[in-house]
Amino acid sequence: MIFLICCKLQRTNTMRKNTSHSSRSTVEAKDTYDDSEALSSSIARSISMSSGHSKPKRIAEDVLRYGKVKVAAEVFTFKELAAATNNFNPDLLIGEGGFGRVYKGRLKKTNQIVAMKQLDMNGVQGNREFLAEVLTLSLVDHRNLVNLIGYCADGRQRILVYEFMRNGSLEDHLFDLAPDMMPLDWYTRMRIAKGAAQGLEYLHNIANPPIIYRDFKSSNILLDECFNPKLSDFGLAKLGPTDGDDYVSTRVMGTYGYCAPEYAQTGQLTRKSDVYSFGVVLLEIITGRRAIDNTRTAEEQHLVSWAIPYFRDKSKFNELADPLLEEKYPRKGLYQAIAVAGMCLQDEACTRPLIGDVVTALEYLSMELELKSKEN
Ligand SMILES: Nc1ncnc2c1ncn2[C@@H]1O[C@H](COP(=O)(O)OP(=O)(O)OP(=O)(O)O)[C@@H](O)[C@H]1O
Ligand SMILES: [Mg+2]
Repeated sequence: MIFLICCKLQRTNTMRKNTSHSSRSTVEAKDTYDDSEALSSSIARSISMSSGHSKPKRIAEDVLRYGKVKVAAEVFTFKELAAATNNFNPDLLIGEGGFGRVYKGRLKKTNQIVAMKQLDMNGVQGNREFLAEVLTLSLVDHRNLVNLIGYCADGRQRILVYEFMRNGSLEDHLFDLAPDMMPLDWYTRMRIAKGAAQGLEYLHNIANPPIIYRDFKSSNILLDECFNPKLSDFGLAKLGPTDGDDYVSTRVMGTYGYCAPEYAQTGQLTRKSDVYSFGVVLLEIITGRRAIDNTRTAEEQHLVSWAIPYFRDKSKFNELADPLLEEKYPRKGLYQAIAVAGMCLQDEACTRPLIGDVVTALEYLSMELELKSKEN
């Protein structure tokens, strides 16, 4: 049986970055849900009441009937979250994506610093995305997936409260670096790739039901204070399929530049669509180039199209490496990482590796000492 969370929203990449400051404001957590039924009915009730639609309620009930809810998500009032961010003070703005703004805040009860994503609530699709995010994150539990602390669904407000990831997104550390930022070194890059792949592996192979993430990209890989990666943004995630070769047929959504060709063309979504997107991010990690970069010449704007000719010529592999690495990488490691990216980016979905195989390769590539001794 395939069950889908349907949510559609056009993605944009209008990232805006502001310096963040910690807030002394406070909030108090209200109710805590300790079972799936309470969480399901609470979310469904609050969302269907304010949207006037019954579909979100059905989605909530179906999803929670299908899987087991892992954690207690806290429910906050808008007043509490406004207090935590000094009334959503622009000084606390830490980012902005297609679905709204992200603020840094501090919760009174735990004194915990959090990130709050305030969804831009124009239209019912944002509502669905909010619901999909809360429910998907309630089904999963892994060190490489961002932790959802709670949410607010007061009136028309939809706010998600996450653990704060001190080093922002991988995107922030790969492209257009501020002058005071150090570029990531090779092994940190490989460890980030490995952790992100492990997050996907959990979604594909361990989560029950399996989850196709569908929005794997560098801005959705968040980094903690030790540069451990965690996947965020599950608003587009889909539950199922449950059988090996089965696929989900759906409307095409995601972010241009990261979508697998068969998914973009026919809407056939499989785990291998995520593997393709992983290949694009791995290529971004290796090259320091964006998946799509409109500031470059026509031949270089689309990263994958630009890189493919290099895959065929080993003597040119070094030209793919990010100049910010200043040639400080193991040559063999670079070649092997490029080979992994190339396999993930194959046009034929069935010839791409499983994410578990990618994890195995990256475990090896992120082992600093072992590789160094092999190089020498
Ligand atoms: N939990 C968090 N901790 C710290 N920073 C975060 C957190 N969540 C998001 N951010 C910051 O906010 C930025 C915007 O995130 P958001 O998910 O809203 O948009 P996006 O991923 O850039 O784009 P899109 O809407 O297309 O997914 C991130 O790139 C990151 O820098
Ligand atoms: Mg995001």
